[in-house]
Amino acid sequence: MADINIDKARVNLEKKGFLDLDIDVNLDLFSEIKRLKKEKNAIVLAHYYQEPDIQDVADFIGDSLALAQKAQSTDADIIVFAGVHFMAETAKILNPDKKVLLPDLKAGCSLADSAPAHLFKKFRDKYPDHVVITYINCSAGMKALSDVICTSSNAEAIINSFPKEQKIIFAPDKNLGAYLIKKTGRDMVLWNGACMVHEIFSLEKITKLKIRHPKAKVIAHPECEEPILRIADFIGSTSGLLKYTLQNPATEFIVATESGIIHQMQIQSPLKTFIPAPPDNMCACNDCPYMKLNTLEKLYLCMEYEEPEIIMDEQLRIASKIPIERMLEISKRSGL
Ligand code: 13P
Ligand code: SF4
Repeated sequence: MADINIDKARVNLEKKGFLDLDIDVNLDLFSEIKRLKKEKNAIVLAHYYQEPDIQDVADFIGDSLALAQKAQSTDADIIVFAGVHFMAETAKILNPDKKVLLPDLKAGCSLADSAPAHLFKKFRDKYPDHVVITYINCSAGMKALSDVICTSSNAEAIINSFPKEQKIIFAPDKNLGAYLIKKTGRDMVLWNGACMVHEIFSLEKITKLKIRHPKAKVIAHPECEEPILRIADFIGSTSGLLKYTLQNPATEFIVATESGIIHQMQIQSPLKTFIPAPPDNMCACNDCPYMKLNTLEKLYLCMEYEEPEIIMDEQLRIASKIPIERMLEISKRSGL
């Protein structure tokens, strides 16, 4: 995360004593958060990868695109972003006059970290006749170097909005990029980045699970590696996967994405069974260590004390806003 000074933020919080603050165990955090939302005209936006308690207390739960759209349209005074830094930063880019809070400033993203803006600039400069389409999972510095942003929900529409002969750089996710090359038939130059969560699913363990549950559908996020995508019955963004489990008549699903999404799948299809796809390590499911830094306690504290807040350099904010707005405009035109 090139754009924030975590140490400074931490020192600020420690000075105020927030990190060591003991929350009274008798405090009903759900009603406290509801009270704070009302008192401060705050909205809590949560990504599907957040822990169930946070999803349950949120005003809006969505994928990266839906969250950016909600951040653009909200009239709340404070946006509390239960997600990772690039998501909260996107909300701030779109809302310079609102206070944007992130429960834990260390909630970064391995994929965003895999593309430092200064290195990407050198890479981009080698392809002066290419447009740059960048996945929203990146820093504001990367966004400012891009022509248009995309998410996993709208990437195809964004790519197809350019004429067939237009040369394209796609960054930073090489797995999503390779999947999109196949889907769109476009020959894109890819940056070599990846998400640590989607990269470690075990093909062997998923195959064994599939043998044990022959009727289960394997569903995967396009950030997964190609061998996993090859055996998937359905590939989609988090909201795409959720919709598929709701509409498909199958009753069992092996879910190859961050396991937080299973909470909404279970709520929306209580009679169906969702099995988290296992990673290639000792764990049975695959949590994003960054997403899971946010807790209900930290959510409550950040709303009570209105910190940590996303603060941005104004020039960088203006430069990174242009490709985000272009994405939102193309998405709107495409009915997404
Ligand atoms: P979507 O929310 O677009 O499905 O992306 C998933 C993700 O990795 C968010 O960090
Ligand atoms: Fe980043 Fe991957 Fe975590 Fe999403 S799941 S926030 S892409 S590290």
